[in-house]
Amino acid sequence: MSLINMSALLKEAEADNYGVGAFSVANMEMVMGVIKAAEELKSPIILQVAQVRLPFSPLSIFGPLMLAAAKEATVPVAVHLDHGLDINTIKHALDLGFSSVMIDASQLPIEENIKIVKKVKDLAGSYEADVEAEVGQLAGSEDDSADHEMLYSRPEEVQKLYEETKLEAIALSIGNAHGLYKREPRLNFEILARARERVPVPLVLHGGSGISDEDFRRCIAGGIRKINVATDTFLSVERLVREYCKEERKDYFRMSAAMVQGAYESIKRHILIFQSDGKAK
Ligand code: 13P
Repeated sequence: MSLINMSALLKEAEADNYGVGAFSVANMEMVMGVIKAAEELKSPIILQVAQVRLPFSPLSIFGPLMLAAAKEATVPVAVHLDHGLDINTIKHALDLGFSSVMIDASQLPIEENIKIVKKVKDLAGSYEADVEAEVGQLAGSEDDSADHEMLYSRPEEVQKLYEETKLEAIALSIGNAHGLYKREPRLNFEILARARERVPVPLVLHGGSGISDEDFRRCIAGGIRKINVATDTFLSVERLVREYCKEERKDYFRMSAAMVQGAYESIKRHILIFQSDGKAK
């Protein structure tokens, strides 16, 4: 059990046709809520933190906490750096023992994206860690600081990236967006199908918060194996803390328990939709 490579989890998900939740965490209570849901439902999971969130959850403090939780868990857990933006931070995560990293160079032309992914792949290889990269660009942003223009992934670029880097997972832009959707998401399943035909590598859906259950199922049926969820978990934690604040009796530790519960409820719901429950080996 415990700490495992992302590629091993995604391989099993591929064989058994389910999705693995990659849940973003920001503090100890969220980590505890995620692990609690995964253990209760006997589900493999990926714990992740995005580079833009590190000012709030410093890697040198929070990374070892994530890894300790993974090692103690009774289910398989991969520990992942989400949206890595520079080599130094990626190397720091790998030095700590993260089992995978994402390099996000998707805003660059495909040739430059590939060049950077190759560099990260070489580096991660010496740690036996896995690499995820992205083709195309999602609307919104991971920390709500910008609203990027949405650019669909081009299946021929997905193939090129895979063939030239042999990385372990590729994130697609098919109409999904980071943060809260401004209107109902309309995913382009045609792009997913065309990318799937071209590469054997597990595909990743970012922007999981706000996607309907039916679309999640269609994505999984179409070859999505890793599904990132962040905003929904943060909102759930915040909601339960607000409820705690209305209570007569105030004490810090009840608030801490509310945070754990907030993460737990969101993660449990997603694990059941992704059908990874009962899949921990
Ligand atoms: P959401 O915040 O929209 O769930 O997106 C999460 C994500 O894709 C992190 O990389």
